[in-house]
Amino acid sequence: MNRVGLIGWPVTHSISPAMHNAAFAALGLDDWSYELLPIPPDIVRQGLRTLRDEGGFIGVNVTVPLKQAVMPYIKPDDRARAVGAVNTINFRDNTGTNTDVAGFLGDLEANGVTVPGRRVIVLGAGGAARAAVYGLARAGARVTVVNRTPEKARLMLADLALSAGIQGVEAKTLDEALEQDGVSLIVNCTSVGMWPHVDDSPWISGLPFPRGVTVYDMVYRPAMTRLMRQAEAAGGSVIGGLGMLVRQGAAAFEIWTGQPAPVEVMFEAARMEIRKG
Ligand code: ATR
Repeated sequence: MNRVGLIGWPVTHSISPAMHNAAFAALGLDDWSYELLPIPPDIVRQGLRTLRDEGGFIGVNVTVPLKQAVMPYIKPDDRARAVGAVNTINFRDNTGTNTDVAGFLGDLEANGVTVPGRRVIVLGAGGAARAAVYGLARAGARVTVVNRTPEKARLMLADLALSAGIQGVEAKTLDEALEQDGVSLIVNCTSVGMWPHVDDSPWISGLPFPRGVTVYDMVYRPAMTRLMRQAEAAGGSVIGGLGMLVRQGAAAFEIWTGQPAPVEVMFEAARMEIRKG
């Protein structure tokens, strides 16, 4: 049996097993399975060792609160080090990477959003924002970060400068960010608007939404967030976060199996799982 899974604490409510097991079935990989693996943070080293040496695991995805905690026990690649978080481990060579960046950039590309030279506002300064800023800046976008707690945005950027050499990204207030010419993409990397708080939006109420701007909302539940409705009402186009979720999973699938992931199968499985609630 080729076992893979998701480690975290807790790991309930994940759509990853449905997504990966559907992909295994679609490709006839009957001897593969994806399992939920709750591991408390204080035994992460032992947990990894047990999965690898006794469980026969090929690899794992990593979620909160273990994305940083696993780092000392594996070899993080440049991308994982730059983002400061590992979300995929390959036990064959004990390496770790971060497929969120590829998932996000891949989904922008799949939706026809070109990145080089584009002026982008990133909302948020947590782990998701870090992956977005890193990916966008490396791909040649001109990025500004806006966060509820400005100090956290400044710290994140100082960190990205040190760990990944990302230069020229500034933290601003939303007002200041919107004064810049040519803002054409806003990426929500906060959790605001996520189910069940579907009436919330990271957009400050009363502030007119800029016209014709594309919104990428990393929130995937609901599929249409309040922020996305605000963007649409202002004539903009919108992309929800499901594609990023599926594509980060597809990238992990390819690392473990060495085969191209059946992305459409994974999309459909993810949608079905979300509908189940
Ligand atoms: P993740 O790893 O998913 O990015 P996180 O690290 O907890 O999660 O980051 C959550 C982000 O959402 C942060 O930028 C947070 O802003 P603060 O740095 O000010 O905490 C933002 N966020 C969460 N709730 C928010 C709210 N009600 N209004 C505005 N921003 C919010």
